[in-house]
Amino acid sequence: MGRIVAVTNLKGGIGKTTTVVNLSAGLALKGARVLLVDVDAQGNLAMALGVSPRRTLYDALVDGARAADCRTPVRQNLDLIAADATLLTAQPAIARRPDWPRVLEQALRPLRAEYDFIFVDCGGSLTVLNLNALHAATDVIVPTTVEPFAVRGLEMLVVQLSRVKGNAGSLRAIVPTLFDARTRQSVELLEQLREQYGSLVMDPIRINVRLSESSARGKTIYEYDPRSRGAADYARLVERLSDLWGFAPPSPAQPAPPPPSSAHPLPATHQPVAPPSAPPPPTPATPQVATAHQEPIVTGAGSLLSLTCPNCGGPLRRATVAGYRVVFCDQCRYRRQELAGGVRR
Ligand SMILES: Nc1ncnc2c1ncn2[C@@H]1O[C@H](COP(=O)(O)OP(=O)(O)O)[C@@H](O)[C@H]1O
Ligand SMILES: [Mg+2]
Repeated sequence: MGRIVAVTNLKGGIGKTTTVVNLSAGLALKGARVLLVDVDAQGNLAMALGVSPRRTLYDALVDGARAADCRTPVRQNLDLIAADATLLTAQPAIARRPDWPRVLEQALRPLRAEYDFIFVDCGGSLTVLNLNALHAATDVIVPTTVEPFAVRGLEMLVVQLSRVKGNAGSLRAIVPTLFDARTRQSVELLEQLREQYGSLVMDPIRINVRLSESSARGKTIYEYDPRSRGAADYARLVERLSDLWGFAPPSPAQPAPPPPSSAHPLPATHQPVAPPSAPPPPTPATPQVATAHQEPIVTGAGSLLSLTCPNCGGPLRRATVAGYRVVFCDQCRYRRQELAGGVRR
């Protein structure tokens, strides 16, 4: 059964959709089967992924369609149930039902076995559908800007979460977004967040204009600029949460069964990031990027190098995924990872 992860905050414009897109795309690149569900009538998720689906969540929640039939494949391993303004009219209809807090959970239940993760992108207030998302969630991720009002709003959200779920135990991560390390206030407030919430606080996602450009162009950050700070920050978050959730990529030697979305051809513009095909020059010893995680973020077999593994002498492969260039051994767990082309400012 896949996890249902609600990505929520009581505020809008703080990076929820950006986090859903780039966290889920990173997990899909690692081989996870991921479904995205937009419960915000603004429908930003479809725009940020560059698609305009015909069927939406409204059809599943109000018109009696099967949620499975309302999916659109958007990338490899990544499907979407989109939203649009019709969802505004769905809310009063849902609120009249006696089982209203469980409507989303019931609609998604038949799909849970098909996915490792179902991410629900919430709107910026406690609407009927956002409450449904909290009820359905096994895990809650809260992106927040690092400003005084936002930090106070976070306390209110944790209280709400405890009311809905009985406790705040499903709160899995707080993701500081739009972080500007040059301001003393941000640095101090991040410290305060860490004191208050401990290891729930992830490394911050820094302000990076490439992130806003990528969503405006309907691309993930790994497609738009895998060398950007935004790609590096989100790839780090993907690693941290994969670790926390115990998600390991399927072994290249034994490929996972095809995900449900692979039945549909992907639009040409939405093919996944391809590993480099030309044989690279011998790799000099380069500083390794410090990551807490030990699994390579590589899903494909990668291109074969003429180098051999310093551990076991086996063949080395290289692939560039999610902003990192990863050299890894076929036979043992040797792995060297560096930011592809260095980090841009
Ligand atoms: N780290 C970041 N650096 C720069 N711009 C960002 C960053 N995160 C999000 N944005 C931009 O901020 C705006 C709001 O982000 P969005 O993810 O849509 O927020 P929400 O879903 O909470 O309303 C968007 O234009 C988005 O591209
Ligand atoms: Mg949004």
